[in-house]
Order: sequence, then structure tokens, then C-alpha cells
Amino acid sequence: MSFTAPIQTPGLTLDPQWFRRSVFYEVMVRSFVDSNGDGAGDIAGLSSKLDYLQWLGIDALWMPPFFQSPLRDGGYDISDYKAILPEFGTLDEFRDLVTKAHERNMRIVIDMVINHTSDAHEWFQQSREDPEGPYGDFYTWSDTDEKYENIRIIFVDTEESNWTFDPVRRQYFFHRFFSHQPDLNYENPKVHEAIYDVIRHWLDLGVDGIRLDAIPYLYQSEDGNGEGEPATHEFVKKLRAMVDEEYPGRIMIAEANQWPREVAAFFGTDDEPECHMAFDFPVMPRIFYSLRSQSAAELTRILSETTDVPDSAGWGVFLRNHDELTLEMVSEEYRQAMYGWYAYDPRMRSNIGIRRRLAPLLDNSRAELELAHALLFALKGSPFLYYGDEIGMGDNIWLNDRDASRTPMQWTPDRNAGFSTADPGKLYLPVVQSLVYNYTLVNVESQLAQSRSLLHWIRNVIHVRKAHPTFGLGEMEVLPTDHDSVLSFVRSYAGSGTSFGDSAEDILCVFSFAHNPASVTVVAPRFAGRKLFDLFGGGEFPAFDDEGRVQLTLGTQAFFWLHVGGPNVTPTLPISTVDGE
Ligand code: GLC
Ligand code: CA
Repeated sequence: MSFTAPIQTPGLTLDPQWFRRSVFYEVMVRSFVDSNGDGAGDIAGLSSKLDYLQWLGIDALWMPPFFQSPLRDGGYDISDYKAILPEFGTLDEFRDLVTKAHERNMRIVIDMVINHTSDAHEWFQQSREDPEGPYGDFYTWSDTDEKYENIRIIFVDTEESNWTFDPVRRQYFFHRFFSHQPDLNYENPKVHEAIYDVIRHWLDLGVDGIRLDAIPYLYQSEDGNGEGEPATHEFVKKLRAMVDEEYPGRIMIAEANQWPREVAAFFGTDDEPECHMAFDFPVMPRIFYSLRSQSAAELTRILSETTDVPDSAGWGVFLRNHDELTLEMVSEEYRQAMYGWYAYDPRMRSNIGIRRRLAPLLDNSRAELELAHALLFALKGSPFLYYGDEIGMGDNIWLNDRDASRTPMQWTPDRNAGFSTADPGKLYLPVVQSLVYNYTLVNVESQLAQSRSLLHWIRNVIHVRKAHPTFGLGEMEVLPTDHDSVLSFVRSYAGSGTSFGDSAEDILCVFSFAHNPASVTVVAPRFAGRKLFDLFGGGEFPAFDDEGRVQLTLGTQAFFWLHVGGPNVTPTLPISTVDGE
């Protein structure tokens, strides 16, 4: 394989570990800004808001699919991998977005849906019409629907089987998701070539990373369950080797909704790496569980378990994304409890999960929103925010499926929330007009004007996090406490000794999920006698005693980030508008 020089990316710092220091922001092109008044967001609209995202402290964007698609699954049903959906814009507009992002030292990660295509894809059309032709084996065809019976159905609300009969070819085809999304056949090496070609196409355009959608499901076998089978890992290793050789510095992120050990397998090993990052699906639902159960036990258990990651890889942590809050990775007992707390209306459920946004899930409680974000920004891994959650946007459970939380971004109290100048009836989805989350109340403009708004609060926490590389690069050790509602861990970083000027530090993080004030003793013998200082304001706290114990008192659903040793304050950001006025 010939070595191709990586595309020059003016403006970007050359930190190979950039993704571990980054704050990511998931933004659906269709939902963010409509630049031409046709009622749907577009790439040019997104470009026009890069200043806002930079002001917020965002380092990298994750863009879900914006390719040619019938849009029957939010664009995850791709009918042409190399074409941009015309309503979203042109290739030139995409190039312009990449350039403008890089000028701001901001990276762009795009979704690569390589497990399946839309049934409208040319490959599928040819495959069904011409079994002997070049695309005949691009999908998994069978005369019976009785193969792979161990493989579970993911979209249980709509699908009865992973096989659907195609009346044209008169055979069944295999699909893990909707029946209009046939799975590609990875047993066929030509599929590998075709997918490599697509990935190179986008990496050549300068994107900084790819999110590998639904990555566990590439291969299936008669004995396995079709999730993370050995052949799937072999493919991911090969892909990583290609990316490292031809596009050094670009990253691969695994979307693997699995148990901790299975997700971690997608990091590979130091010798045979797979993905640079993987979303932390096991931790996410347990944050929500802790908030309502007032018990930190399950979170403490899972955090103690998931820490074994190769040095150069990192978790992607998140509270919400464009999908339902999935409850696949919790026990049945926990799942029922979570439905009771968070999905008391049947319309709030979707498949095995809950289709609501963050603020409504937390009943718009500012204390809970702050606690959840403080945890998100302190956990081991890079935080991923979902567009709109920084202003506590609401959802609309009367819309279908996951559209409930894909409504237009709320910029202003004006027509269509400032998202679009179109006739309101023409919007791809209506703006949220509920009592509590109405766009006239919840929008970027009004939060910019309030110094104590959630938006300013989140911006400041991002700023503090970024001033301490420990959060991105450090180790995490869960500490014992004597209070069931309190989670405590220390983030420790030895310093890099590089030109980035990072120095060694330890940060003690304490979170109380109790619905009343709590007094707790935290134990860390290695810190015996050390002092503690608040990371935000610098205030001195009680010190660890000679045995490394410290007693702390926390208000209702409160948290501390404490510097161990000496004061190391990040001055609070002055309140400013996006334009720096
Ligand atoms: C991933 C996406 C989801 C999509 C599915 C099928 O899970 O996050 O939105 O429906 O893949 O492509
Ligand atoms: Ca538009």
C-alpha cells in the first residue's frame, strides 16, 4: 500500500492525543440552522454558528450522516455514501465547513454507517436484480429466514425478524435494524474495498475522524450472537492500520452498545489497536439511575470495572445523543425502575429505551443538570454534548420515534426560534412549544443575556475542565466513602513533560446523589496530610488527616472538584456574548 501524505490542515495543533483533550458536540445538520429558508438545517447554517461553538469551548464536532438518503432513519439509511443530500448543501459547502472549523482549531468527525445501507442504495438495487452480477453478494441473502437464530432484534418496536423477504430476488436479506436497511455482507472482500473507498473519500476531504456506527454487527455466525464476533474485530484492526498509515492523526470512534468488556474490546491492544475511542454505553444509564435512586453503588461498581484501556485510547462519555436513552445495558430490575422514573408516559419509550432529552428527563432541575454535567466533565474520557442540551432544550414526545429529541435548535424567541425564516408549517419538525420548554423562554439569546443561565454555567465548567489536562489525560481511581449516595474518585496526571506544559496534579471529585444534604468521609491514604482547594474559586477545604481521611459536607445533589495540594484556580470566565462584546 502506498503512503499518501496526510492532507495539510492549517490551524490545527499537531497533538496526536487531541481527541482525549477535546470536548465534543454532536450536531445534526438538519436541526441546527437553516441558511436558505427552506425549513431544514444545512451545512452553510452550521458553518455560520462555528463562532458560537468556539465561544462555548467546543473542540470537535460529531456530525451524524448528511449523505444522500431517503431519511427514513434520520440519514442512517444511506443511498449514496459520496453524495451530500442536496437539501443539506454541496460538497463545496462541506469543504468550507472543514476549512473554517480547522481555522478555529476545531475538528470534524463524521458518521460512517458501514454495517448497512438504505434499500434505495444502487448496490442493493443491483444485488436484488442481478444475483450473478458484481453486487450480487454485497448483502446477505438466504432462502430461509431461519439462520442466525441467536441474534437479537434491536428495533423491537417495529421489526419482527432480522430477515425480510425481497419479492424481486425472491430471497430473504439480513438486517440488524429497519427492514429498509439491509446489512452489507462482510464475507465478501469486495465490500471491504467499497467501504475503504468511501472512508478514504471523506478522509481525503480533511475530516478528522469517523464514528463507526453500529460497529459490533459487521459479521455474524451460526454459533455467535452477531455482536463483536472475532471477524468483526479483525476487520476493525485492518481498517485502523490503513487509517494510521495513510491518515495519521485521524481517529476512529466505536459505537458499540455493549457490556464494558465487550465495548473495551473495540479499543484493541497497544500492539493491535482498533478504535481510538468508544462510547461509554455502560456508564451512561447508571448516571440516570443514581440521580433517582440516590445510590451511587452501581455507578461506583461499573466505574471500578471499566478502566482498563490502552494508553493511547479513550472513552467518549455522554448523557444524551440523537438516539433513545438506551437501557439495554442494565438489568431488568433497573430497567423497570428507570421506566418508572423517566418514562411514566408510554409515549416516552422507544424500543428498549427512553426517547427524551436531558432537561425534561431531569425535570428541568438545575441542581440535577449541574450534577450530571459535573460528572460528565470529570469522568475518564472525553465528553460529548448533544446540541441544545447546553441551554436545557425540551423535547416533543408527540413526534414519532427519536424525532422527539431532534427538533430545531432554539436560538432566539423569534419566529421558528431563529432556526429558519421559513413558513412555520414548512419546518422539517416543529419547534418545541411546550409550557416549560417553549422556545420563547428557552433559547440561546436569552441565556446569553442571563449571567446565571445554564449556558453560561456549562461554558464555565468546560473552560475549567480544559485548563486542567488531568481531566482528559489523567488516570481515575474510585475512592471508598461511607455514604451510599456519594461517588468519589480522584483524577491523577503525572504530567507530560512535553511542550504542552502540563504539570502533574491530582483532582478529588465528589458527587452526592442524595436528595438532602450529606456528610461523607472519603478515604485516600496516599493523600494523608494533604490540603484541598476548590478548583473553581480556590477556597481552602478541610485537609486529609494523617490516615488519609477527610470529612466533607455536601448540599442537596451537589459536587466538588478539589485540587489536592495547593490552590490552582482557573479564573471564572468573564460573562461575554458570542461576539466578545
Ligand atoms: C445507530 C444510530 C441510530 C441508527 C442505527 C441504525 O445506532 O445511532 O440512530 O438508527 O445506528 O443505523
Ligand atoms: Ca436549508
